[in-house]
Amino acid sequence: MVAKTQFYHVSLALLLCLGLWAFQVTSRTLQDSFMHERHEQWMARYGKVYKDLQEKEARFKIFKENVNYIEASNNAGDKSYKLDMNQFADLTNEEFKAPRNRFKGHMYSSAIRTTTFKYENVTVLPSSVDWREKGAVTPVKDQGRCGCCWAFSAVAATEGIHKLSTGTLISLSEQELVDCDTKGVDQGCEGGLMDDAFKFIIQNHGLDAEANYTYKGVDGKCNANEEAIHDATITGYEDVPANDEQALQKAVANQPISVAIDASGYDFQFYNSGVFNGSCGTELDHGVTAVGYGASDDGTKYWLVKNSWGTDWGEEGYIMMQRGVNATEGLCGIAMQASYPTA
Ligand SMILES: *[C@@H]1O[C@H](CO)[C@@H](O)[C@H](O)[C@H]1NC(C)=O
Ligand SMILES: *[C@@H]1O[C@H](CO)[C@@H](O)[C@H](O)[C@H]1NC(C)=O
Ligand SMILES: *[C@@H]1O[C@H](CO)[C@@H](O)[C@H](O)[C@H]1NC(C)=O
Ligand SMILES: *[C@@H]1O[C@H](CO)[C@@H](O)[C@H](O)[C@H]1NC(C)=O
Repeated sequence: MVAKTQFYHVSLALLLCLGLWAFQVTSRTLQDSFMHERHEQWMARYGKVYKDLQEKEARFKIFKENVNYIEASNNAGDKSYKLDMNQFADLTNEEFKAPRNRFKGHMYSSAIRTTTFKYENVTVLPSSVDWREKGAVTPVKDQGRCGCCWAFSAVAATEGIHKLSTGTLISLSEQELVDCDTKGVDQGCEGGLMDDAFKFIIQNHGLDAEANYTYKGVDGKCNANEEAIHDATITGYEDVPANDEQALQKAVANQPISVAIDASGYDFQFYNSGVFNGSCGTELDHGVTAVGYGASDDGTKYWLVKNSWGTDWGEEGYIMMQRGVNATEGLCGIAMQASYPTA
């Protein structure tokens, strides 16, 4: 009898323990299987294929960490911007930075930039500008895994001045810059500078259309026949005086401007909407294009920036970056190395 009761107690305790353990395991498994399902959906959406289960499990772990980070950031409710999943969701921040952000600004910092600044005496500054509304901006493009942000930035600024000087908007070729502008600093997918892209376009007497010299996203051999077609030309380029957001505003009020930024931040990787003021440094590693500026409903001033990471990133490929921050370099160094072509 005694033995039986003891046995009963022991098994009850065991059952309780097992039950609790099973409950914990089940809820963890449920969470995980929900997360696995999200990962599968994300893989399908972006056409991701992993070489084996081991890689898939490793990528899943990173995916899960990113999802948790994004949700915690959005739920904190203290930020002016939101994050979201995008094509970079299975990459660590280190992996994200490496192949994409190849603006060479940090290597050639303040290389002799002594051009004149044609907008220095501009006094009329609209409170907001959006060059998309004036038809001076082509649809958002996607550089893929090629570090030629510098080409996309220079091309967007060239498309802008071409539209403003001729009345015609033509999407121009980044691949021509990647393949043909290789004799100087610019090295295709390995990186480059917007100013050197402008120099190439000037020396080549123009740039071919996107439609005729299409984007491949890898380094290729220069197509001399296409290089000889000049759908748009520029006559020169100028640098915006460095570390002066007001000078940058004068320039952006007049045309789309190439800007270099530090885009390496974790929040930048997953930026989705709102006025971005997340943490970032001033180690310029990415070339983008300022296509306007304005202020949000609560009065926060921003730069309207066109990126080249497709339309899934940010606000349909754009980001609003806080303007007028307490730092002469601007947020993420946006005022450090701005420049534009002239026509
Ligand atoms: C960013 O903006 C939010 C909301 O306006 C503000 O609370 C926060 O202090 C800002 N962060 C920085 C780093 O300026
Ligand atoms: C701006 O004004 C100053 C003073 O009048 C003049 O010397 C300078 O050439 C002007 N700059 C431009 C780009 O017109
Ligand atoms: C593309 O090239 C063809 C000839 O190869 C030319 O007729 C056409 O005008 C070009 N189109 C553009 C947009 O440059
Ligand atoms: C602006 O930045 C300086 C230097 O980092 C700092 O000392 C100062 O407190 C900041 N001012 C405001 C209003 O945040």
